[in-house]
Amino acid sequence: MWTGYKILIFSCLTTEIWMEKQYLSQRDVDLQAYFTRNHTVLQGTRFKRAIFQGQYCRNFGCCEDRDDGCVTEFYAANALCYCDKFCDRENSDCCPDYKSFCREEKEWPPHTQPWYPEGCLKDGQHYEEGSVIKENCNSCTCSGQQWKCSQHVCLVRPELIEQVNKGDYGWTAQNYSQFWGMTLEDGFKFHLGTLPPSPMLLSMNEMTASLPATTDLPEFFVASYKWPGWTHGPLDQKNCAASWAFSTASVAADRIAIQSKGRYTANLSPQNLISCCAKNRHGCNSGSIDRAWWYLRKRGLVSHACYPLSKDQNATNNGCAMASRSDGRGKRHATKPCPNNVEKSNRIYQCSPPYRVSSNETEIMKEIMQNGPVQAIMQVREDFFHYKTGIYRHVTSTNKESEKYRKLQTHAVKLTGWGTLRGAQGQKEKFWVAANSWGKSWGENGYFRILRGVNESDIEKLIIAAWGQLTSSDEP
Ligand SMILES: *[C@@H]1O[C@H](CO)[C@@H](O)[C@H](O)[C@H]1NC(C)=O
Ligand SMILES: *[C@@H]1O[C@H](CO)[C@@H](O)[C@H](O)[C@H]1NC(C)=O
Ligand SMILES: *[C@@H]1O[C@H](CO)[C@@H](O)[C@H](O)[C@H]1NC(C)=O
Ligand SMILES: *[C@@H]1O[C@H](CO)[C@@H](O)[C@H](O)[C@H]1NC(C)=O
Ligand SMILES: *[C@@H]1O[C@H](CO)[C@@H](O)[C@H](O)[C@H]1NC(C)=O
Repeated sequence: MWTGYKILIFSCLTTEIWMEKQYLSQRDVDLQAYFTRNHTVLQGTRFKRAIFQGQYCRNFGCCEDRDDGCVTEFYAANALCYCDKFCDRENSDCCPDYKSFCREEKEWPPHTQPWYPEGCLKDGQHYEEGSVIKENCNSCTCSGQQWKCSQHVCLVRPELIEQVNKGDYGWTAQNYSQFWGMTLEDGFKFHLGTLPPSPMLLSMNEMTASLPATTDLPEFFVASYKWPGWTHGPLDQKNCAASWAFSTASVAADRIAIQSKGRYTANLSPQNLISCCAKNRHGCNSGSIDRAWWYLRKRGLVSHACYPLSKDQNATNNGCAMASRSDGRGKRHATKPCPNNVEKSNRIYQCSPPYRVSSNETEIMKEIMQNGPVQAIMQVREDFFHYKTGIYRHVTSTNKESEKYRKLQTHAVKLTGWGTLRGAQGQKEKFWVAANSWGKSWGENGYFRILRGVNESDIEKLIIAAWGQLTSSDEP
């Protein structure tokens, strides 16, 4: 069987060589003509392989009139053949594929068919002409025996992952399957979702925590150690650009639990914000945190268990399934049952107006230790999506063409603690511990660490917090 197969291939080749001998050169041409065209070594190798597959003019190109430089070599027959119009004479010295390729005469007599398979190859697999395959975020179509691919910049870039992991940046990168196949554009469009802070927010006065200036701050602090069960882990915003809602609901929930000393420990519903914060019409298309905090103060949110995330988060016109009204004594009550039939409690949780915490590192630490996690606005760049573990700092791609690979957009996260680590060179590295909203499979169980005290990615630029609004009957 195997020998039979080899004989078949051999006879095909010999037929081809025999056939090609009929195209011996009849022109006196300087072989250098071919080499005056610029070809790299790789192109040369590819060229030889193409010729072996019967692609001469297809690879070399077709020429008008008489062009003695439009010549290529039969390696098999040790002769020359041409792809110019002049070759097609009585005593033809055209390459075997001149007619089919340069004159697009598809009808060749069967015995002169060039010997090569139709379609394209990919990873050793053969694809029919017209096949479409996906390569990360680009789709490639097999056309004219070549893959023609769209040229999007992808969110996951293997060369960037390699650059980060080979370098000494203090963090490692990973290829996340949930981001694979997305364009850079869509990644930024669907996984962030906080509008740049308004001038009003930026002009808010900074508050300082009331801890005495001499308070000793520990080397390491995380809110969940100080208040176990009262703080809330990261959720997954999926393809919903609503970090404005996820970060606000999470900070509010932690603070209400801490302030009520564990009486109200429910996580709050980001979906309630996304679907009901009507003035923030964007929903899953970004929103502002001032509107989110306004809503928490004026309308309040039910728990995450009561109003869970919609299955189809993309549907931004998901109607609002919750409403509340005031009891006249400053407290609001839900007027609808929970939009799921498991949770019975539709209690409404409200917050005070938000306040801005100083950008001073020490002040932020005091605030977290005394009152609980805070919201931080940060600038996300393309490398951040790949973060797996370590202390994040932005790594600029070394790619020459890097402009089109660069992107920067506002995101909102929750700072829950800090720490210090000895770096590779023995230096002290200070970091924040922050909760993202990309699920628990991202980063360090949904959290990330980021350089502290150097305004990395603007993480210290705008820190926001609020108090829970608890009436006297709510107090423990
Ligand atoms: C060949 O390459 C050189 C430099 O590498 C360039 O100056 C020249 O224009 C090229 N010639 C052709 C025909 O492309
Ligand atoms: C990255 O992950 C995707 C999906 O899990 C996989 O198909 C792809 O081959 C991976 N790419 C690299 C370069 O590891
Ligand atoms: C979400 O909507 C965008 C356009 O608004 C679309 O490109 C995307 O494919 C949708 N995603 C899903 C999961 O339906
Ligand atoms: C931050 O505040 C502390 C006091 O809380 C002060 O000692 C320190 O100098 C401040 N740092 C900066 C950079 O202003
Ligand atoms: C952080 O960096 C941003 C951008 O460079 C700047 O606007 C802001 O003032 C900085 N904030 C602090 C506290 O250094």
